[in-house]
Amino acid sequence: MEPQTWDAALYDRHHGFVASYGQDLLELLAALPGERVLDLGCGTGDHVALLRSRRVVADGVDASPSMIARAEEKYPDYPYFSVADARELALGARYDAVFSNAVLHWVPEPSRVVASVAAALRPGGRFVAEFGGAGNVGTIIGAAQDVREAFGLPRVPVPWYYPTVGEYATVVEGAGLEVRSAWLFDRPTVLDGTEGLANWVRMFGAFLLEGADDEKFVVELEDRVRDALWRNGSWWADYRRIRLVAVKRG
Ligand code: BEZ
Repeated sequence: MEPQTWDAALYDRHHGFVASYGQDLLELLAALPGERVLDLGCGTGDHVALLRSRRVVADGVDASPSMIARAEEKYPDYPYFSVADARELALGARYDAVFSNAVLHWVPEPSRVVASVAAALRPGGRFVAEFGGAGNVGTIIGAAQDVREAFGLPRVPVPWYYPTVGEYATVVEGAGLEVRSAWLFDRPTVLDGTEGLANWVRMFGAFLLEGADDEKFVVELEDRVRDALWRNGSWWADYRRIRLVAVKRG
């Protein structure tokens, strides 16, 4: 994973929904006090802090130094955060569970990621993850590519990995984990404020704006997706998620 250069404070201000939506994934994780849990792609640290407050022995890793710096600033009493590449964790088989929310679609080479997760788990340990699945933000991506074309710009490759359940389960089973459940579902996600779509694209999809006049691009994009994504005074991103629970064979 290339180090991300996101603005971590901006992320917390406008994209706090990422951690909030992860709350029910934590219920699926159902970590017990004393269990060792790794939050893979911990962002600014909210889930690690929540797990620690429940006496779960949680650590957090993220590829982004700015996210880790912000996590350390927010939780100065928790020295459990570090910068790491999901494909190269090399932590030893010490975790009862690896948990990951809204991150794995950012990381190419899923086989390496899952092998690295498997190596971090003790036999019987579980992998509980949610990330973008096939068709995720398809309306936004499709419209943005059309805007590029309309502005005389080339279409750009999309860096996100959005597999089907079948594709991902095959990768996971190939790494020696048993898939206990995996499903794909629509999860329209409200974006914060009337600038929500613009903020989302600038924060996460800057590659779509490459070479364009930022303001004009965003106005045109909003026009094209308004019918599909503007409801009751808010922008809704057309998120589709995969949720998966798998267990390392013992
Ligand atoms: C997602 O959580 O699905 C996502 C977030 C940012 C960019 C693309 C997808």
